[in-house]
Amino acid sequence: MPVVRMAMAPSLHQAVTLLWFLTAAVGMPDPIKRDQLIAQEASRQTGGKVALTPVERKLDAKLRQMKEREMWADPFPPALHFFKAKPLIQRSSIFKLLQNMPKGAALHIHSSSLVSVEWLVKNVTYRPHCYVCFTWDNSVRFVFSQRQPFPRWDCFYWQLLHTLRAKNGDPASFDASLMQHLTLITEDPDGEYPNQDAVWEKFEKAFIATAGLVSHAPVLRDYIFQGLQELHQDNVMYLELRSGLSRVCVSSSSSTCCSFLNLLYTFYFILYCQAYELDGTIHDKMWTLRTFQEVTNKFVKDHPDFLGARLILSVHRAWSASEVKAAVKEAIELQKEFPDVVAGFDLVGREDSRRPLWYFRDALSLPDQLGVTLPYFFHAGETDEEGTEVDQNILDALLFNTSRIGHGYALARHPLAKELSRKRNVAVELCPISNQVLKLISDLRNHPAGVLMSEGHPMVISSDDPSMFGNTGLAYDFFQAFMGIGGLKANLGTLKELALNSIRYSSLPDHLKDAGQAMWQKKWDTFISAHL
Ligand SMILES: *[C@@H]1O[C@H](CO)[C@@H](O)[C@H](O)[C@H]1NC(C)=O
Ligand SMILES: *[C@@H]1O[C@H](CO)[C@@H](O)[C@H](O)[C@H]1NC(C)=O
Ligand SMILES: [Zn+2]
Repeated sequence: MPVVRMAMAPSLHQAVTLLWFLTAAVGMPDPIKRDQLIAQEASRQTGGKVALTPVERKLDAKLRQMKEREMWADPFPPALHFFKAKPLIQRSSIFKLLQNMPKGAALHIHSSSLVSVEWLVKNVTYRPHCYVCFTWDNSVRFVFSQRQPFPRWDCFYWQLLHTLRAKNGDPASFDASLMQHLTLITEDPDGEYPNQDAVWEKFEKAFIATAGLVSHAPVLRDYIFQGLQELHQDNVMYLELRSGLSRVCVSSSSSTCCSFLNLLYTFYFILYCQAYELDGTIHDKMWTLRTFQEVTNKFVKDHPDFLGARLILSVHRAWSASEVKAAVKEAIELQKEFPDVVAGFDLVGREDSRRPLWYFRDALSLPDQLGVTLPYFFHAGETDEEGTEVDQNILDALLFNTSRIGHGYALARHPLAKELSRKRNVAVELCPISNQVLKLISDLRNHPAGVLMSEGHPMVISSDDPSMFGNTGLAYDFFQAFMGIGGLKANLGTLKELALNSIRYSSLPDHLKDAGQAMWQKKWDTFISAHL
């Protein structure tokens, strides 16, 4: 029958074409109505209601042209793993613009991953009295000590780093190998980290390796200063830093009691260190908070266009319920003592395979029971395990009146939580590069936050663990959110709203928010006129 079909085909086609012509004339949607719908939908996205000034509109048009040139690049950086995309991003003219843009605040960064690894290796490991030890599980430990450190259960043979580097003969490759221990960076991320378990294992190892370096008291001071410096250079003006309430020391010269604790905590893959001196003196938490405050004040004095920094005290989810309860009590005390420094409390560490928030309900209800306020900034929904206990963390975080949601990767799939967080102005802290490197998503164009952005859900952009990812500042994460997640429709209004959100949703009291916003506006106006 092929002959018949061939004969019929043209007449059928003609009939359909004719029908289309007829209906098109009558039933075609009104193009004006169409434009209205498009505009109406666009107004719902992040920044969709921001009224741009004439000069801003001019820059927006220019930005749109730049975006059209870069959107169809092949390869498209947000579709690649960040370790491969980074050099491409550096060449982007939009990235350069984002570097110059005043981005407001970084509200989700962890203290042990604040400063670029280049500084850690090139500056900190070159200081005198630095000892290194290679562990049986292919990790490293560092400690600053006046004399040869005692062997520990995990580290038998300590060597003076200076001597070892000299013996090695090739300091550049030696330093590169140290950097590998302190970050996740690799040339073959997919091969080296086939799944989330593998990447998290390396991640937690790198944190332990870093601890001995940054908790040395004189390093800690410079480290905080350097961290603020790097943010300031990237045109970020305020920081809320998640920082561990530490229990355990890594200092070599202190008593053997610590070795047992080390064993315990390394077993949990966690080691929060208190600041220590060369002679093994251990400082308490008050010292650390005071030091943080002093360094921040000094930085603000040197850089009057920087607003400041505060801490979100955090403990690891691997802690027991009673330990977390003690930590909550302690956080309440510390907040009373340092109201300008302590913003609130959080639980950190991988959500999957760890205890959900609900497990800690006794501890987390404590402030409410005592009639005191301890703002929460919970990591929640950093998971792709839909329907599990951990997936409920988002709703539980809201039940405990969280001020913001760290990541909220799963939020788009929780309609009620989404409604509640929007109603209560609980912003999501979106950290695109972190989500990609820690293997929740590979192509950022498919990130679920695309849904949240198109609806204008309260949101800020942050970098989570910049040094672990070879990242610095916020410009790279802004690039990924703007190009990959927001797509072509994200515009200058989106960027403006994201930056303003970071001040709006910060923990600062209203008068400082106002001051911060005024300071930001001045920088923003300068930025706009410089890029016209
Ligand atoms: C390390 O940094 C500190 C302060 O940030 C600086 O004073 C010192 O000279 C630096 N040392 C090296 C070896 O770069
Ligand atoms: C959360 O806030 C509500 C309303 O202000 C309050 O009734 C409730 O006790 C709070 N819950 C906790 C755990 O803080
Ligand atoms: Zn985090």
